[in-house]
Amino acid sequence: MTETQIHKGLAGVTVDTTSISKVNPETNSLLYRGYPVQELAANCSFEEVAWLLWHGELPSEAELKGFTTFERSHRALADNVKAAIDLLPITCHPMDVGRTAVSVLGANHPRAEDSSPEANLAKATELFAAFPAVVAYDQRRRRGLAPMGPREDLDYSANFLWMTFGEEAAPEVVDAFKVSMILYAEHSFNASTFAARVITSTLADLHSAVTGAIGALKGPLHGGANEAVMHTFEEIGIRKDEPEEDAAARAKAWMENALAQKNKVMGFGHRVYKNGDSRVPTMKAALDDMIKHYDRPEILGLYSGLETAMDEAKNIKPNLDYPSGPTYHLMGFDTEMFTPLFLASRITGWTAHIMEQTASNSLIRPLSEYDGPEERHLVASSVRK
Ligand code: ACO
Repeated sequence: MTETQIHKGLAGVTVDTTSISKVNPETNSLLYRGYPVQELAANCSFEEVAWLLWHGELPSEAELKGFTTFERSHRALADNVKAAIDLLPITCHPMDVGRTAVSVLGANHPRAEDSSPEANLAKATELFAAFPAVVAYDQRRRRGLAPMGPREDLDYSANFLWMTFGEEAAPEVVDAFKVSMILYAEHSFNASTFAARVITSTLADLHSAVTGAIGALKGPLHGGANEAVMHTFEEIGIRKDEPEEDAAARAKAWMENALAQKNKVMGFGHRVYKNGDSRVPTMKAALDDMIKHYDRPEILGLYSGLETAMDEAKNIKPNLDYPSGPTYHLMGFDTEMFTPLFLASRITGWTAHIMEQTASNSLIRPLSEYDGPEERHLVASSVRK
């Protein structure tokens, strides 16, 4: 009898082709539709990258204008989405709010059951446009603040920050935020994207697939890691005005202790990249800009202390969640809002994959090896009458 090979966690298994992005662990590179993500982060708006992921090419001037006009006019939240959010306690995790909001947006949609390419593209664009308002609305209600309406004169990133904080962000803050959105947008068959593709493969609608993907993203082994990074910083202690070297020394000691106890430290390691996450240098540069902008060198100390100690002890490198967590913290977001920010960005990648899966669908249904009890039968004494 031949033994079935089990691919626990589907590690190393190639399940399909995709033309959306290429992750190359050998060269630590990530391409969106062929373009290195670093080039896109440095030269494009998030709106252009969203278009690229959906259409395969960057938009022309006219296409970008049309898309921008559409996106800016679809930013406001429907009343029943606000009402649904208001029903949720502020003690719940903001990812639960995001998941509920997307579900309501799906139920609202006049073409809810239409998964044609044209309907899916419209749904993807509308979701991309509306989701920042969900995050901003939730962040503000948790602080007891009245919601802010969207501003059509601002781009996606500037408007996101405006709706959240009620003031215009400095250009360097908008740029760092935009960079994070671009870096988080897409990463091949990660857990949440695969979840979206599995749901799509049953011919369920786009919002159902995104709702399921949000559940997968919430976990600390995936998107939840950016929050966990900040909890680590908080546990070590963020002491404003502490010299960088002192913060680094405390962080190093914390990491040595955590590793001695065989703890997993979130924000480090990656299933695919083993020599460093291709997105980290770009995000770290954005974090450096924010550290400078807000004059918070102790954050750099904590960052480098942990990184150095992990590298020395285990040669494990940071992933994207490591620099993005403290970046969002410096911008003023509550820690629990970090994963919804990742979500807002990843709507682009997920929906691109939903459209790709729909265009060449095959029901995703793997096999399993049964290792329960051998066949057995009920006996009269075990049957309840
Ligand atoms: N801290 C400490 N040790 C780690 C870490 C870590 N963050 N990551 C991996 N290791 C160690 C494991 O303990 C294991 O060691 P062992 O062989 O001595 O038992 C070895 O490295 C292999 O780890 P696995 O978890 O088996 O590797 P896998 O490829 O399955 O894990 C994963 C990848 C889940 C991302 C893992 O590195 C991890 O849990 N990291 C922390 C969570 C995290 O940051 N997730 C964000 C992912 S990126 C993103 O979503 C943008």
